[in-house]
Amino acid sequence: MNPMSVCKTASSSSSSSSSSTAKAWIVHGLLAGAAIAVAIGARAFHLSRSGRLRSRVVGIIPARFASSRFQGKPLVHILGKPMIQRTWERAKLASSLDYLVVATDDERIAECCRGFGANVIMTSESCRNGTERCNEALEKLDKKYDVVVNIQGDEPLIEPEIIDGIVKALQAAPDAVFSSAVTSLKPEDAFDPNRVKCIVDNRGYAIYFSRGLIPFNKSGKVNPQFPYLLHLGIQSFDAKFLKIYPELQPTPLQLEEDLEQLKVLENGYKMKMIKVDHEAHGVDSPEDVEKIESFMRERNLS
Ligand SMILES: *[C@@H]1O[C@H](CO)[C@@H](O)[C@H](O)[C@H]1NC(C)=O
Ligand SMILES: *[C@@H]1O[C@H](CO)[C@@H](O)[C@H](O)[C@H]1NC(C)=O
Repeated sequence: MNPMSVCKTASSSSSSSSSSTAKAWIVHGLLAGAAIAVAIGARAFHLSRSGRLRSRVVGIIPARFASSRFQGKPLVHILGKPMIQRTWERAKLASSLDYLVVATDDERIAECCRGFGANVIMTSESCRNGTERCNEALEKLDKKYDVVVNIQGDEPLIEPEIIDGIVKALQAAPDAVFSSAVTSLKPEDAFDPNRVKCIVDNRGYAIYFSRGLIPFNKSGKVNPQFPYLLHLGIQSFDAKFLKIYPELQPTPLQLEEDLEQLKVLENGYKMKMIKVDHEAHGVDSPEDVEKIESFMRERNLS
């Protein structure tokens, strides 16, 4: 009777914790580098997918050239390959996607992507953010889809099984319109406002997101015993919800925290989260390129 029998995608290394019922939304053992092995295991899900609710799934990688902090970011080379190509190749391994496409307003990005064999859809320059770009791309696609995964192009080491995990979570939670992933927060990131924290209920539905540390221990310090959660930038949406999402009026908590996803919760919609092991290697600035390259060298990732 476990309503959360959702996200057992991946791995073998499931914990022996006796409280496994409440923790069944945790997807164990997803580490960069282990991606391919686990992706094979995830195919079982693909087989059982047909006939389910929300069965048609599209992955969209929104990419823009202009960025205040990092011009031309999607095209930057990481160990000799454009970052957008790395993201594409990882996402291609996800078994839950019926179609994968890059959505961009920039001909340089489009050309690069076509060059390595990606599907590309041109979107207008007026898209203010990735969510709007995904929505426009969805409308321009020939086929209809039930679920849209927004795969951010600045996470070139995204594990395909995280994509599969959030898709599966959304398919198994018809009362949710949105799904996303969290991972363990590193203590040194506790008070970094750029690291968004999340708290969830015992079935993995999001209760709140904050740039501040939540929950907040009355000592005012990080509690080394508490399993704080970091929100990862990958999201999947019910396609019908994605259509109305950009039009929902900004809400007070969203504005105060500058977190778009709070608009979802403040309007009473549910968001389903999965927990994964993932070391975030987002590339936000030119300095991050060197960091990710040395990480990849250490792990022998090419
Ligand atoms: C706060 O954190 C401390 C450890 O730093 C822990 O012992 C305590 O149980 C936590 N909660 C409260 C309410 O103090
Ligand atoms: C993205 O655009 C939508 C719709 O215009 C807006 O509601 C949302 O807050 C924006 N998100 C960000 C992160 O700017």
